[in-house]
Amino acid sequence: MKPVEIAKNIYWVGALDWNVRDFHGYTTYKGTTYNAYLVVDEKIALFDAVKEPFKSDLIQNIRQVLGPRGIDYLIVNHVEPDHSSSLPDLMKVVNPGKIFCTSMGRNTLLEHYHREDWPYEVVKSGQTINLGHRTVKFIETRMLHWPDAMFSYLEEDRLLISSDAFGQHWCTSERFADEVEQSELMKHAAKYYANILLLYSPLVKKLIETVTKMGLKIDMIAPDHGLIWRESPSRIIDAYDAWSGQKPRRKALIIYDTMWHSTEKMARAISQGLAEEKISVQLLDLKTNHRSDIVTEVLDAGALIFGSATLNNGMLPTMADMLHYLRGLRPQNKIGAAFGSFGWSGEAVGLINQAMEEMKIKVVDPGIKVKFFPRQEDLKICEELGKKVGKVLKEET
Ligand SMILES: Cc1cc2nc3c(=O)[nH]c(=O)nc-3n(C[C@H](O)[C@H](O)[C@H](O)COP(=O)(O)O)c2cc1C
Ligand SMILES: [Fe+2]
Ligand SMILES: [Fe+2]
Repeated sequence: MKPVEIAKNIYWVGALDWNVRDFHGYTTYKGTTYNAYLVVDEKIALFDAVKEPFKSDLIQNIRQVLGPRGIDYLIVNHVEPDHSSSLPDLMKVVNPGKIFCTSMGRNTLLEHYHREDWPYEVVKSGQTINLGHRTVKFIETRMLHWPDAMFSYLEEDRLLISSDAFGQHWCTSERFADEVEQSELMKHAAKYYANILLLYSPLVKKLIETVTKMGLKIDMIAPDHGLIWRESPSRIIDAYDAWSGQKPRRKALIIYDTMWHSTEKMARAISQGLAEEKISVQLLDLKTNHRSDIVTEVLDAGALIFGSATLNNGMLPTMADMLHYLRGLRPQNKIGAAFGSFGWSGEAVGLINQAMEEMKIKVVDPGIKVKFFPRQEDLKICEELGKKVGKVLKEET
């Protein structure tokens, strides 16, 4: 895609990746974009770059705006390879006089590309550089979501170039958030938050407070993935504020896997109990739902109920995968319970309870184990569990 002027003399010069479907364990059903921004002022500055296979898109776009000349400054807000793996080639072509990055950014660039000879210029939070008519202020955003990360704020344009924050993995021909279907946009933004930033929610809260205190006037937020927030950018900041609060809703997820459908029958009975308590409930079979989509639903759910049959003295591998992934993202403020069918030793429910305790999910019931196929009375007990979880959730929300 050709360059797009997003504000006077500021161009999107990134690349569209329609085909990527996996982003380190996160399913990107609709691809993604690698956004880079070129500012043409007395000094020419490029903010971020693209993934290596897309380097010619970036170089062509820069050429379209600048012709054969190089750039003065390269700003590396974040070193992860989706934004920097084109640098070894790009550096030869555009030959910047300086690379601005955080101190961790410099180390991380060295640890990736082993180039001691690049012209690093380490900046700290609050530091500014002048491009001529513009001032760029850097704001370190350590651990959001890597230690090297920072934002670049263009004061006169009131433009926040926000690196991975506020992004979405969604490839579209449009460049602005106000040009696309809104509910789909927010779903992609939520999935991105849930899978990439949930773990750092306390830091997100702090960052929002810091930025508010700094009194930055923001007319536009340009992230490194997906669409640019132009009309009321406060919308995505408010969404981050809400998501980082992890306030539980009256919503329950029954996440399960089954071999011969007994655990599934139990899942359906539990969902009945929850529905009777007027709790919104979703049945999520781990064979048909990807962990990264389930985590998106976890974001505002109040109750997580996990079900697994016992296989070889353990839980099913899909459940181990799910719990492992979820534990890493440290969800807060959830209640939970476990259930499952078994044949002789029946370890799955106990192991799930253990995992929930480790994650500080409040386990509201010892859980239900049914030997082989459930009888009507077993299913009744499952329904009662659903009601019980529903009642506790209503007390807590
Ligand atoms: C390959 C295999 C291994 C199993 N290993 C165990 C086990 O170690 N302990 C146990 O209690 N049940 C074990 N079971 C029995 C299942 O847990 C039992 O069939 C249960 O009812 C399956 O529930 P589902 O219909 O939800 O898959 C095993 C079953 C299979 C097929
Ligand atoms: Fe990243
Ligand atoms: Fe990224």
